[in-house]
Amino acid sequence: MANDRLLPQHVGIIMDGNGRWAKKRGLPRQAGHKVGASTFQKITRYCNKIGIQYLTVYAFSTENWKRPQEEVDAIMNLLRSFLKDAKNHRAENVKTHFIGDLTVLAPDIQEMMRDCERESAGFTGLTLNIAVNYGGRDEILQAAKRFAADAAAHKIVPDELTQAQFSSYLYTAGQPDVDLIIRPSGEMRLSNFLLWQAAYAEYVFMDTLWPDFNEKCLEKALEEFARRNRRFGGV
Ligand code: IPE
Ligand code: IPE
Ligand code: MG
Repeated sequence: MANDRLLPQHVGIIMDGNGRWAKKRGLPRQAGHKVGASTFQKITRYCNKIGIQYLTVYAFSTENWKRPQEEVDAIMNLLRSFLKDAKNHRAENVKTHFIGDLTVLAPDIQEMMRDCERESAGFTGLTLNIAVNYGGRDEILQAAKRFAADAAAHKIVPDELTQAQFSSYLYTAGQPDVDLIIRPSGEMRLSNFLLWQAAYAEYVFMDTLWPDFNEKCLEKALEEFARRNRRFGGV
């Protein structure tokens, strides 16, 4: 793979369309999530291979708790399987982070997440953010609360707060803003994903449902990104 092309530094993916994929086949929605989980692993490996530095995937939103309990349980169990298997993927050199309000997740999941983060902390390949119980507004709100606490403790002067400093209160602290957001499944909305970080992102919407998404689809989105003329407000 020639690496002289213009690659985004940070890719975000809204992994959508699992339910519709299953419905089309007369299967329960959970079956779509299962195939979607393997698509996620395949695409992560590919991003690492081609030299993407940061990948953020939207796995479960703060709004997804509205779904039937059975479906929520199935998604959480897929997350458990992924976490249990994480040790076997050390050779891939992927540094994994979990972003979102993790405090309400089952204790065993929280513990496995911490282990996974700790074990991969020194890895030097792709940085993978998995968004679970993540909402962009929720993220900004918790950042505002922590900032207010620091201000009350006289650690920072409110009037002197810069955008860069505020960014450091977000779950993605220390990471570059997302450059490219890909949403499969035909929906054209952010659904509360990376609201602050997406200020100047490029968007690529695709009709493919997430379980059918493959390396070719990602390449198409990357080609589209390379063709875009990013001006950041300039000329
Ligand atoms: C995305 O697929 C996965 C999650 C939101 C957890 P959906 O389950 O939203 O699939 P559709 O949109 O119903 O097809
Ligand atoms: C966004 O998809 C969240 C994830 C992919 C995890 P949704 O399916 O929940 O979004 P809406 O409801 O169509 O906006
Ligand atoms: Mg959906």
